[in-house]
Amino acid sequence: MEDTGSAARDIVICSSAHCVAVDAAHRFVAIAASAIRLRGRLTVALAGGKTPTLLYALLASTFPDAIDWGNVMIFFGDERCVPPDHEFSNYGAARHALIDPLGLSEANVNRIHGEDPDPDSAAERYAKSLAALPQQNGVPSFDLILLGMGPDGHCASLFPGKAALSETDRWAVSTPPGMQPEVTRVTLTMPVINAASNVIFTVTGADKAGTVTRVFDRASDDDLPSRSVRPSQGSLTWVLDRAAAAGI
Ligand code: 6PG
Repeated sequence: MEDTGSAARDIVICSSAHCVAVDAAHRFVAIAASAIRLRGRLTVALAGGKTPTLLYALLASTFPDAIDWGNVMIFFGDERCVPPDHEFSNYGAARHALIDPLGLSEANVNRIHGEDPDPDSAAERYAKSLAALPQQNGVPSFDLILLGMGPDGHCASLFPGKAALSETDRWAVSTPPGMQPEVTRVTLTMPVINAASNVIFTVTGADKAGTVTRVFDRASDDDLPSRSVRPSQGSLTWVLDRAAAAGI
């Protein structure tokens, strides 16, 4: 692994997708141990999509005793507007890979109600659940937000050109999809992402290399959503495999 970082952002390049998951798991455990020691609990927003499922499985299989999971409060960065048992559900994927294997109490899981026929209502309900978090400048501040990045540079469900990307008042909003799966989403907004104490991106695969290069090109004025992730007081770490990092 190479570790080339800057004051505002650390970039870790791993040899494989498995190595990315191992590195991210160790970072998750370290952040969790610190948050639980200092504040009695960890508040974490999980990423959706496929990349983090290996990380979640590792946390459940290899780190079940590394932290007191009973003090981990699970939230989500975004959700597809489908029922929780639907194949597209980010909650469903996390439940299968992490929540059930660790036997986490549903009381510690704050999911987005994707089954709500009114996505705006689901977003408002989720935003209300964030009021329980400590705040930074009036915005809920997670201890940790995990993010993936789509080939279009989106993160959470903040897609290029969609209104949700420029939302600055609400903490969670609904949004039309910007890519597959073509279902309405509910997402955290950028102010909440940038109020986090720690943000970790995990990005793997050659199909992401071009977008990763554009995200890290300081001369570029691309309006890629992932470029806007700059925690104002928190840490930002990109954990990439060599394929995704080929252009940087
Ligand atoms: C979602 C995710 C999304 C995901 C990226 C990358 O609900 O789709 O939250 O932001 O992280 O699309 O997805 P993959 O990891 O599957 O490439």
